[in-house]
Amino acid sequence: MKRELRLTADGSPTLYVPELDETYHSMHGSVQEARHVFIENGLRFVATESKQVNILEVGFGTGLNALLTAQYAKENAIRVNYVGLEAYPVEEAIWKEINYHTDTEARTLHTKIMAHPFGETNSINLNFSLFKEAKLIQDWVADETFDLIYYDAFGPRAQAEMWELPIFEKLYSLLNVGGVLVTYCAQGQFKRHLKSLGMRVDSLPGPPGKREMTRGIKI
Ligand SMILES: C[S@@+](CC[C@H](N)C(=O)[O-])C[C@H]1O[C@@H](n2cnc3c(N)ncnc32)[C@H](O)[C@@H]1O
Repeated sequence: MKRELRLTADGSPTLYVPELDETYHSMHGSVQEARHVFIENGLRFVATESKQVNILEVGFGTGLNALLTAQYAKENAIRVNYVGLEAYPVEEAIWKEINYHTDTEARTLHTKIMAHPFGETNSINLNFSLFKEAKLIQDWVADETFDLIYYDAFGPRAQAEMWELPIFEKLYSLLNVGGVLVTYCAQGQFKRHLKSLGMRVDSLPGPPGKREMTRGIKI
C-alpha cells in the first residue's frame, strides 16, 4: 500500500493513502483527534474504574494512539497491556519520518513502540507492555479479553467491510462486561450494529472539525 506523509491543521503529521483517497487521521489535527477520541473519551473514562487496563487497537498504523496511551499511563500511574493489530504495517523508512514529538523522551518512546517486533510481548516501560500482531482483524484469533477497544479503521467510505456487523460481533465477544469501544466514527448504521448487540451507545461531541464520535459500552 503506497503512503505519503501529510501535515494536518494542528501541525502534526499523518499519512495519506492515494489508493483509498484516505488519511490515517483527521486533517483538522491528528494528535488533537487521537487525544480527544481515544485518550479523553476512552482511556480516561475506563481508567477511573481500574488501575490496570487491557487495550486492543484495531488499526495500529503509525503508533500515535499507542504513544499517547503510554504517556497517559506513566503520567497517571496506571498499567496498560496494549495489543495493536495492523494488517499492513508501516515501513520503517516511513514511520521514522513521522514526528509526533515535542521532546526527546516522546521521540524515544515512539521509536521503541514502532521498532518493537511484531509477534512478541514486551514491556516498553513499567506502565506499558506491548504486543503487535500483523494480521487482518477478520483472521485474528485472540486468546485474551479487553477492557477497552480503540477502533481506528479507515472510514466506511474507504473501507466499508470494516464497518459490517461480523467485525463488531467479534469485538463484542472480546470485550469484558463493562468494557468500552471508542471510535471517531459516528455513522448511523455502525451505531445500529452496536445497539443490535445490546451495547449502550453514547454519541459524544467529536474533536474539532467533527460533530460527533461514538462510545459503545458492553452492559
Ligand atoms: C485510520 S488508520 C489507523 C491510524 C493509526 N491508529 C495511527 O495512529 O496511525 C487505519 C489502519 O487500519 C489498518 N487496516 C486496514 N484494514 C485492516 C484490517 N482488516 N485489519 C486490521 N487493520 C487494518 C490500515 O493499514 C491502517 O493502518
